[in-house]
Amino acid sequence: MKEQSPRKILVALAGLAALLVVLVLTAIVSILLLYTEPEWLSVSDKPELPTGNPVTIEEEISEGVHVPTGFKVGEGLELVIGNCTNCHSAKLVTQNRFTKEGWINVIRWMQETQGLWDLGTNEESIVAYLSTHYAPEARGRRKPLEVEWYDLE
Ligand code: HEC
Repeated sequence: MKEQSPRKILVALAGLAALLVVLVLTAIVSILLLYTEPEWLSVSDKPELPTGNPVTIEEEISEGVHVPTGFKVGEGLELVIGNCTNCHSAKLVTQNRFTKEGWINVIRWMQETQGLWDLGTNEESIVAYLSTHYAPEARGRRKPLEVEWYDLE
C-alpha cells in the first residue's frame, strides 16, 4: 500500500474536524431552538388563551342591569344567568311577565319538552327572582288583581 504523505493526512483530518464542528454546531442550534421555541418558529395556530381573571358578573353590571343579558340586578341574578341563558337569549326571559306560578309553569314546560334540567334547590331562588323582577305589570290605571295562590296537590 502506498504511503500517504503527512500533508494529505493533515488535510483529511482538518476536513473531518470541520465536518464535526458543523455537526456539533447544528446539534446545539437545534437543541436550543427546540427548548426555547422562539416566537418566529412557532407553527402552532392555537388561539391565545386569555390571561388574567375572567370578567365577573359584578363588573358587567351598570345602572342596575347586567349589561350582557339585560337582566335586572337582584338576588338570584347569578343563578338565572347560569341556568336561563344556555338555550335561548335572555331576551326571551326579560320580555315575558309571569306570576310565580306562571314562571313555575314555564319552567315545568321547558323541563318536560325542551330538556331543561332539574333546577334542584336553586329553583326557589330562580322563581323568586323571576316573579319579583318580571312580574305582570299594571296596565292602565287599574291595579293588578291580588290573587291568593294556593298549592296544587
Ligand atoms: C335546556 C334548554 C333551556 C334552558 C336551560 C332554558 N330554556 Fe327557556 N326555553 C327553551 C326552549 C327550547 C324554548 C322555546 C324557544 C322558542 O320558542 O323559540 C324556551 C322558551 C322560554 C320562554 C318562552 C315561553 C313562552 O311561553 O313563549 C321563557 C319565558 C323561558 N324559556 C324562560 C326560561 C327561564 C326563566 C329559564 C331558566 C330557568 C330557561 N328558560 C332556561 C329551552 C330552555
